[in-house]
Amino acid sequence: MRIAVVGAAGNLGSAVAGEAAARGHEVTALGRAEVEATDAASLKEALTGHDAVVVAVKGPERTVPRTAAALLEALPAAGVARLVFLGGGGSLLAPSGQRFVDSPAFPPQYLETALDQAAALEILRAARTDLHWSYVSPPPVHLVPGGKTGTYRAQARDTPLTDAAGESRVSTGDYAAAVLDAIEQGSFRQQRFTVAY
Ligand SMILES: NC(=O)c1ccc[n+]([C@@H]2O[C@H](COP(=O)([O-])OP(=O)(O)OC[C@H]3O[C@@H](n4cnc5c(N)ncnc54)[C@H](OP(=O)(O)O)[C@@H]3O)[C@@H](O)[C@H]2O)c1
Repeated sequence: MRIAVVGAAGNLGSAVAGEAAARGHEVTALGRAEVEATDAASLKEALTGHDAVVVAVKGPERTVPRTAAALLEALPAAGVARLVFLGGGGSLLAPSGQRFVDSPAFPPQYLETALDQAAALEILRAARTDLHWSYVSPPPVHLVPGGKTGTYRAQARDTPLTDAAGESRVSTGDYAAAVLDAIEQGSFRQQRFTVAY
């Protein structure tokens, strides 16, 4: 498949771009030098001709929700049917029913991005669109550097997946593999899914 990765030099985008290339896909790696993710016209120009787009951006001034809105406009115009948006885990729900991002214990250094990511999910969910989007939530805290084990679980849900010890955790390698599996299998249509062991 022809897969574009927006944010391909970033922490998660580079893991996804590497996994896609290793599986034999044709990968277009995009960063700020090639595309302005918050601008629909720029996205349309950069993304036309691709089968799927993975977006892994982070930035100031509401970059993440503005990117979600721009993608909803740009992708149908570009003829791109498939989007996987690398999201946040802070909008997953704690056992209390509260979003992790709304807890006073949420790490303050991640608050702005987590709220931006929660807003992006709401924008995608509210859209009236035929676009096959998926929003991926990593564990709220423990998305950790590491390779692929192939043992992860991926499920459409609004609460974290936890292991037998009650921990929600996954490596970047397995997270990237879950993104490629979702693209190749066409799964999680207009859904948020989360990935963990
Ligand atoms: N546990 C969690 O909830 C969790 C953990 C990790 C990440 N995340 C989420 O995953 C996303 C990606 O994180 P990351 O750590 O991979 O980010 P990162 O390493 O900071 O990479 C962000 C990428 O976005 C690109 N970018 C920023 N603004 C852009 C714009 N306006 N137009 C085009 N490209 C732009 C940058 O391009 P350049 O290369 O040109 O600078 C960079 O490659 C974030 O939104 C973050 O919230 C969530």
